[in-house]
Amino acid sequence: MCGITARIGDDDSLDDLLVSLKNLEYRGYDSAGIAVQNGAGIEVSKCEGEVAELKSQLATNDHDGPIGIGHTRWSTHGPPTDENAHPHTGCKGRVVAVHNGIIENYNALREGLQARGHEFTSDTDTEVIPHLVEERLEAGMDPEVAFRDAVGELDGSYAIAMMVDGDPAVYATRNGSPLVVGVGEEANYLASDVPAFLEFTDRVVYLEDDDVVVITPEDHHITDLTGNAVSRPVETVDWDPEDAEKGGYDHYMLKEIHEQPVSLRQTIRGRIEGEDVVLEDFPPGTFNDVSRVQFIACGTSYHAGMYGEWLLSKWGVDANTFIASEYAAYPAPVDEETLVIGVTQSGETADTLEALKSARERGARTLAVTNVIGSTAARTCDDALFIRAGPEIGVAATKTFSSQVASLVLLGERLVRDVTGGPTEECQQRLESLKSLPEHVERVIENSNAAAISHQWLGGGGHFFIGRGNAYPVALEGALKFKEITYEHAEGFAAGELKHGPLALVTADTPVFAIGTGQHPKRLESNVREIQTRGAPVIAIAPRTETDLTDTADEFLPVPATHPDLVAILANVQLQLIAYHAADEMERSIDKPRNLAKSVTVE
Ligand code: G6P
Repeated sequence: MCGITARIGDDDSLDDLLVSLKNLEYRGYDSAGIAVQNGAGIEVSKCEGEVAELKSQLATNDHDGPIGIGHTRWSTHGPPTDENAHPHTGCKGRVVAVHNGIIENYNALREGLQARGHEFTSDTDTEVIPHLVEERLEAGMDPEVAFRDAVGELDGSYAIAMMVDGDPAVYATRNGSPLVVGVGEEANYLASDVPAFLEFTDRVVYLEDDDVVVITPEDHHITDLTGNAVSRPVETVDWDPEDAEKGGYDHYMLKEIHEQPVSLRQTIRGRIEGEDVVLEDFPPGTFNDVSRVQFIACGTSYHAGMYGEWLLSKWGVDANTFIASEYAAYPAPVDEETLVIGVTQSGETADTLEALKSARERGARTLAVTNVIGSTAARTCDDALFIRAGPEIGVAATKTFSSQVASLVLLGERLVRDVTGGPTEECQQRLESLKSLPEHVERVIENSNAAAISHQWLGGGGHFFIGRGNAYPVALEGALKFKEITYEHAEGFAAGELKHGPLALVTADTPVFAIGTGQHPKRLESNVREIQTRGAPVIAIAPRTETDLTDTADEFLPVPATHPDLVAILANVQLQLIAYHAADEMERSIDKPRNLAKSVTVE
């Protein structure tokens, strides 16, 4: 994890670096640091805590200079302390580096360096990098050659940026961790992700693994690890920088919940024509050779994958969902007729990338469903479907979940037509309902009573979420959202499974949120009665037409009636608001919950 950035200009870089670091905080926020060159040496400032803490420390000194690198950390090696914060320097303070990822052979490298007289000041794996470069500079190599040669010693995953005192350039490389160059008018930039520098430039160069880039104030050039020139296109991104700002909301998460009508419109726009689905890169017949589908994903994206599995299975396509970290270690059988779909908002989640790699190496066809054009998943899979949700900054995923599910409905339509020879009449009705989904989400947000209900049982025995069919992944997602940002115990269950164990935990202190889609009304009503008999309050989330459920429940969060396959997406918006308002009441760090990060680029 972690976010790295650099700004290389002729004027002072500090302000831009701090903006970029702030924009990267979703990648980690337990310590932060910068290093700048100002002609009189390299100044390093770093501390435990968030970027705001670093900023206040910097206000009392005059660290500035035209070339700088920065880092915001999510700890892997060594606790979050001032010493372990990046940037790290070599013994002489001449080389300074920031790093995202894990250097797997750092112990051996460190021991070797120590035996040769190098002294270390942190517990991090990163610190070996400036020492390795320093040794090479002292042996007479120039900085670019020294950097490339030192990187050749590293095993693991990394994105690294480095500068050498007195040398007006930043050197960077990647292997398994994202890195993008920003080509500006006044200065050039480098970062783990585009939103870091989006307000300064929208012209970007996505680096590939083993690219080494040298960035100067005027230019950049890329080589491979052996020094051969490599050409990468400069692309223009169409994200609006304002989309990555809070825009009057107290939290990014609330803003992003409210953005869902717009983001869903973007997801769907131009992709439904009459009774057919129109996916530019997936014309009819694209999946004629597919006989089974495997979804692999983590966290919220895993729940979207489960939703996709449910949709496909219902339509007669053989589909399964796997937790990516498990799949990477214990892969399910695949063949050339297997389509493996990596669902990943960021396109950079290490577990998902590893699972996709395993599927690809064993002959499966791979497809990324992602939000980020140019992400590793988008580039390494055979195909990519972009969910077009726009930048999501809050660590807890909201709008990207609804756009992932809507994208899977669209992709599912193509798959079911190609694999089973559909479409069915039901498919067409669902496609028609999908078009109205943005307005329905708008109504949920405008009329939601979640704020009034959310705080009633805080500090009790836990919050449970139940659903059947497509409401089951949403029950899991509702619980995940709740625990992520309130730090209260929350669990999601298949409604019918509650009586096989979890019911033992149900008391008057454990509210149960029951999601009704209209598909199994009587069974869900029985589950609700089983819960109420144990004294627990039940909160129904369902259309008003689901009277079996709504009349039985103690509280009711209504959603508009629509196609039953899509109702759970609307229920999820209510659950996002429940989690948000509960966490707000508890004064939690909603956009940056403890111990979590938005993009997890370590396995
Ligand atoms: C992290 C985030 C989750 C996210 C998961 C998968 O754990 O905190 O919100 O769902 O990664 O991320 P991806 O980018 O692959 O969807």
